[in-house]
Amino acid sequence: MNENQPLAGQVAAVTGGAQGIGRAIADRLAADGAKVWLLDFDGDAAALAAVELGNLGAAQATDVTDEASLIAARDAILATDGRIDILINNAGLYPAATIRDLKVADWDQVFDVNCKGVFLASRVFMEPMIEAGYGHIVSIVTVDAYVAKPTMPHYGASKAAVLSLVRTFAQELAPHGIMVNGVSPRRDRDRARQERGLAHQAHPEHTGRPRGRAVRHRRGGGLPRLTR
Ligand SMILES: NC(=O)c1ccc[n+]([C@@H]2O[C@H](COP(=O)([O-])OP(=O)(O)OC[C@H]3O[C@@H](n4cnc5c(N)ncnc54)[C@H](O)[C@@H]3O)[C@@H](O)[C@H]2O)c1
Repeated sequence: MNENQPLAGQVAAVTGGAQGIGRAIADRLAADGAKVWLLDFDGDAAALAAVELGNLGAAQATDVTDEASLIAARDAILATDGRIDILINNAGLYPAATIRDLKVADWDQVFDVNCKGVFLASRVFMEPMIEAGYGHIVSIVTVDAYVAKPTMPHYGASKAAVLSLVRTFAQELAPHGIMVNGVSPRRDRDRARQERGLAHQAHPEHTGRPRGRAVRHRRGGGLPRLTR
């Protein structure tokens, strides 16, 4: 194994990889040598981001709430690269609303993307991993799955459901050599400051990228090291 590029030769898919945490994870995976497919609802942004990854980047417009769209993405990856080693379930929505104000349609949409999307993508992408007897599935959860947060009832509940899914997938897929993990970043402090109109007070080390725990502490308590 190449020490500097431990993922060389492996192929990864990142849902919602066009921007934010997904984009930062894609950068990290590519830096570790993996070919990275950015699967995002916003196909144009994903294509642009893939160009920036050079020959290790590729993109396909994908809706994680649509099984047919996920199957098309998986099949495009297999047709091009012949394998899928890593799936990062990152696509997620977090519109704020109090329990009193929350619209049922918004509840449904948040659950569709955050929870059903993880279920569908994991189930679609696990097939080639089962065949290979190897794979990693990592889902981006959140601390709000554990800690109650006013204005985030639908978000916290959807991510708590993801935690349960992660545990079930982990048990069912372990016999096939597939490792399943969840990562719970804290809120992106810089983005929170920007949303509150305090951009000038952003963290002094701000790089323009999210600084969630999944990104900053990948080698420690964050993303598990994805090597064979
Ligand atoms: N930003 C934070 O502070 C934070 C903290 C904890 C957890 N998270 C989680 O990390 C993940 C990424 O968060 P972010 O802040 O980078 O989000 P973001 O809004 O910056 O990016 C989300 C991406 O997902 C894509 N997307 C939305 N719906 C989709 C769909 N149906 N199919 C495919 N792609 C879709 C969007 O186009 C976008 O590119 C989410 O799951 C979020 O819940 C974020």
